[in-house]
Amino acid sequence: MYYPDEVIEEVRSRNDIVDVVSAYVKLKRSGGNLFGLCPFHSEKSPSFSVSPSKQIYYCFGCGAGGNVISFVMQYENCSFQEAVQTLADRAGISLPEEEQDGAARQEHSLRSQILEVNKMAAAFYYYQLRSKSGQPGMDYLKGRELSDETIHGFGLGYAGKYSDSLYQYLRSKGIGDQLLRETGLMVFDERKGMLDKFWNRVMFPIMDVNSKVIGFGGRVMGDGKPKYLNSPETRVFDKSRNLYGLNFARRSRKKVMIVCEGYMDVISMHQAGFVNSVASLGTALTSQHASLLKRYTDEVVLSYDSDGAGIRAALRAIPLLKEAGLRSEVLDLSPFKDPDEFIKAKGNEAFQERIDQAQGSFFFELKVVESRYNMADPESKTAFFREIARRIAGFEQEVERENYIEAVAQKYHVSFDGLRRMVGTELMKGIRTAPGVSGSADLPSSESSSFSSGSARKRGSNADEGLHRSQCMLLTWLTEYPQIYPVLREYVAVEDYSEGFCREAAAMLYEQLENGEPVPARIISHFTEAEDQKKAAALFNTSEPGLAGEELKKAMRETIRKVMESGQKNAGTDTGMDMAALKRMIERKKKLENLGRLEIPL
Ligand code: CTP
Ligand code: MN
Repeated sequence: MYYPDEVIEEVRSRNDIVDVVSAYVKLKRSGGNLFGLCPFHSEKSPSFSVSPSKQIYYCFGCGAGGNVISFVMQYENCSFQEAVQTLADRAGISLPEEEQDGAARQEHSLRSQILEVNKMAAAFYYYQLRSKSGQPGMDYLKGRELSDETIHGFGLGYAGKYSDSLYQYLRSKGIGDQLLRETGLMVFDERKGMLDKFWNRVMFPIMDVNSKVIGFGGRVMGDGKPKYLNSPETRVFDKSRNLYGLNFARRSRKKVMIVCEGYMDVISMHQAGFVNSVASLGTALTSQHASLLKRYTDEVVLSYDSDGAGIRAALRAIPLLKEAGLRSEVLDLSPFKDPDEFIKAKGNEAFQERIDQAQGSFFFELKVVESRYNMADPESKTAFFREIARRIAGFEQEVERENYIEAVAQKYHVSFDGLRRMVGTELMKGIRTAPGVSGSADLPSSESSSFSSGSARKRGSNADEGLHRSQCMLLTWLTEYPQIYPVLREYVAVEDYSEGFCREAAAMLYEQLENGEPVPARIISHFTEAEDQKKAAALFNTSEPGLAGEELKKAMRETIRKVMESGQKNAGTDTGMDMAALKRMIERKKKLENLGRLEIPL
């Protein structure tokens, strides 16, 4: 059921967010907002805030956020439509019966149609595995010591020897070619037409956190190539945002999440009782994966293959996890290749022991870095300590840095003070290369060449992140101080915001301000996906707390300058600069020059 904007807005505005959230979370007032313990991640001090004036919630810890509809979606784990239904019932609003059309509806229904076909395909493969012709698949899975319960639990299946059985089956169920193309389940052959993508493989349905089948992996039953074939990315399948096994792992209620590389690793670990394990789907761990994990845990145990590729993957994952606020440890599985092989050879208890012995990720990095330097050569050894000092400088808290300095000094028998001075030097470098500090954003990072460390990685994306933050700050201020809008719009136009999400939200907010009051919560319900709502809530929660009066005005001018300058850069790259554009550019330049004197009506 798809509802018109006005209906959604009525449902939203008649359910006060404070009332709704209070039913689930104990809230306490502090300033204009209310705070409580975030229901979406575990924490001891409250970082979950609800704004009665903006009618949105936002967690400064895990980034969860949105309006009252998002809250219900996230808490009850339901769809946008279901949340609207729940809230309509709560407010005694009866929803219209008839469907609406429009692009959003089509997109939404396409997604649900793809999910529906995926489910049919999963059921088809599931029954094939249990049919007579599925015997090779069953033999293969049994050969890998999977129990009936495990095979059933993960919905494993089998794609048979014919290259069009799924196609014929789905056609017989009335699914058209057009839709089938969108599912990624078929390939198109000039001569033969549509064919199944998967055949003669055991099938692993890939599910999202809500157990919806979003794609498939298929494994050859032997040594053929490629070993695994996966669904392409589709409208419902985004590898960088989904983790295999998370739909089960998120209910495990264990303190840590084990992250590994493969389907079989997850399945074996779950079978062995380690139901808190997930895998990134044959791709490197992304920052989206990290923030997804952060919703369910504060600590990750990396359980990657013990070969060079696995070590490199772990080294890349560590800074991403750290940035998302997750602690990480690294499991040593040697001499075995991966968790599946380890458990088969050594059993559950030995695996648990390895988990208990897992090394904090810093010490793992330390060992790897050490192996890249010749410690017998004084020069190389110094370079090693410099690299370690840089890594220590990456820790935010001083106590943390001191602890690591102490540990390293002890381990390598060097002086604590000497190492501390090195860390100090690296810290200073870090400050000089921070964004916003005059002209050093593009410093070559020659010293961080060996592999990506937290600070090295940050340097590249800092400019973008800084700009994004500045744009969000303007949007937040506009919702908090709508009186600045008439001044601000003369300086920063909708087009000055980065294309995509920011600009879309800015356009909606500017329109609201043209016509009266800002209603950020309404902008959020424009997005029906929980992830997008969360991003939108973050846009309106980016102010600098504690700033007021002249200081605030100064920050506003600086932020306006940043956004204008980047907007100008983008305008400059446009081709076909006509007279009018030239004039606009000159005006802008003047405005920029006089920005320091801009009076902001606070
Ligand atoms: N992978 C892939 N395509 C390949 C090889 C691997 O998508 N050609 C992905 C799969 O998700 C696989 C993971 O990378 O599960 C890890 O690969 P690998 O270690 O080679 O496989 P295992 O998980 O160990 O698989 P198995 O035990 O079945 O050999
Ligand atoms: Mn394996």
